[in-house]
Amino acid sequence: MASKLVPVLFRTAARPVYRASRSQFRAFTTGNSRRSDTLAVHRNTPDNNPDLPFKFSAQNEEVIAQILKRYPPQYKKAAVMPLLDLGQRQHGFTSISVMNEVARLLEMPPTRVYEVASFYTMYNRTPVGKFHVQACTTTPCQLGGCGSDAIVKAIKEHLGIKQGETTKDGLFTFIEVECLGACVNAPMIQINDDYYEDLTPETTKQLLTALKDSATSGSNVKAPAAGPLSGRETCENSAGQTNLTSEPWGIETTRKDL
Ligand code: FES
Repeated sequence: MASKLVPVLFRTAARPVYRASRSQFRAFTTGNSRRSDTLAVHRNTPDNNPDLPFKFSAQNEEVIAQILKRYPPQYKKAAVMPLLDLGQRQHGFTSISVMNEVARLLEMPPTRVYEVASFYTMYNRTPVGKFHVQACTTTPCQLGGCGSDAIVKAIKEHLGIKQGETTKDGLFTFIEVECLGACVNAPMIQINDDYYEDLTPETTKQLLTALKDSATSGSNVKAPAAGPLSGRETCENSAGQTNLTSEPWGIETTRKDL
């Protein structure tokens, strides 16, 4: 019996020593930043740190005054999303200074603004090119027309960049995104605020060339109009009207009693 108790007694006696030696605090990591951090972590860079001042322009201050009228004064923090969007449009991306200024204007803790800006992917928290090319690669766009794989390949080849990169001239940033809600005109891409649909590799390359020309050749060259590049107006049947082709029935057919 005594021999059986020895290991138990030894373990019990050793436990306080082990607990005392164990650190109660975990050290902050000092390793290099990892790419997955970019989803939620801000790291100061020369073009994105809190010491860089940001102020809304006088014109945008008027827009902000109009936006704030939509909300009761005690709930003005509800305007955080439109103000972040406005800041991004003015500054080019949603920098930490933009977020801090929005927090100051809406009297919110800055961390609440950071939470919003890091949750929604339409807020670019790092600089992007003049044309932000977002290619939809969700299933309908993968299967529709020539398929999004061909479009992504064409973009990468034409711009010479990979997903998440910006061209050296600062004109184009390319990313892949999930469904943008224009599946009926697949495959499609979004560039800044515009949708370009019914794409082929050729029309995609022509579009990118035209956008570059519009940015580098002065105001004479206009960017192509948004929408389907197949000749369709919107999402009508490209084979023409195939149903509802006869005159609608009158009431004499449907209401014989009248
Ligand atoms: S799947 Fe591409 S827009 Fe919906």
